[in-house]
Amino acid sequence: MPSPDSPVPDRRRPLVVAIDGPAASGKSSTAKWVARELGLRHVDSGSLYRAATAAALRTGVSPSNWTEASVLKAAVGIRLEPGETTFHPYLGDEDLEEELRGKDVTANVSLVAKMPKVRAWVNERVREAAEGHAVVVDGRDMGTAVFPKARVKIFLIADPWERARRRLVQRLQRAPEDEEIAAEVEALVQRDLKDEAQTQQAADAILLDTTFLTQEEQVERIVAMARQALKGPPES
Ligand code: CDP
Repeated sequence: MPSPDSPVPDRRRPLVVAIDGPAASGKSSTAKWVARELGLRHVDSGSLYRAATAAALRTGVSPSNWTEASVLKAAVGIRLEPGETTFHPYLGDEDLEEELRGKDVTANVSLVAKMPKVRAWVNERVREAAEGHAVVVDGRDMGTAVFPKARVKIFLIADPWERARRRLVQRLQRAPEDEEIAAEVEALVQRDLKDEAQTQQAADAILLDTTFLTQEEQVERIVAMARQALKGPPES
């Protein structure tokens, strides 16, 4: 019997590339790029936690009074709309993309992500989006809770200073000052702490430290691993 920590990959299923890691480790941008290179679908589980948080904020109820039931009720109208390579969370007819990266959502998303029923709701949406397709999925627990049999599992890490710098470049579209980076490091470390229980490195995941890698290099490495996995025994 394989132990739950080292599940035997199932080659009859379409390829799953699972990319997990802490805040701002570059999971989503890398996953999107890998998906484009390989012609796979990309599903960002974090965007669903963010969408549920955005929907809960819109109700006007203070986050300290949120319950699993109130968050799930607010999230009822959320759906994932397929785009060219990735899915975009919509609330009714509204594309939530911009709102999801806002300060209020980021400040409250870890609270929502701790709710077991919300996690079950996200996991179901992610599996639905992946159903029958080869996918690149990213988050905190894709290689453990959601796709334990994924054929490629990566755990991305990077030095907090570098993660903070990259996140600021993305947000500000300019080179950040050292003081700005220091403040962002503090925010990232706080969020890492809040997300600690949800962030799981699978026993069979490859640890990839991207501190000194360019994004192109990290994408190349993951694409090579995925190609290798696709060369495995034929699907049966
Ligand atoms: O991009 P970044 O790492 O900043 O965050 P994200 O992937 O957009 O995820 C936002 C939040 O959702 C995280 O801080 C976690 O609280 C939560 N999350 C989670 O708990 N499990 C996942 N599989 C994905 C995200």
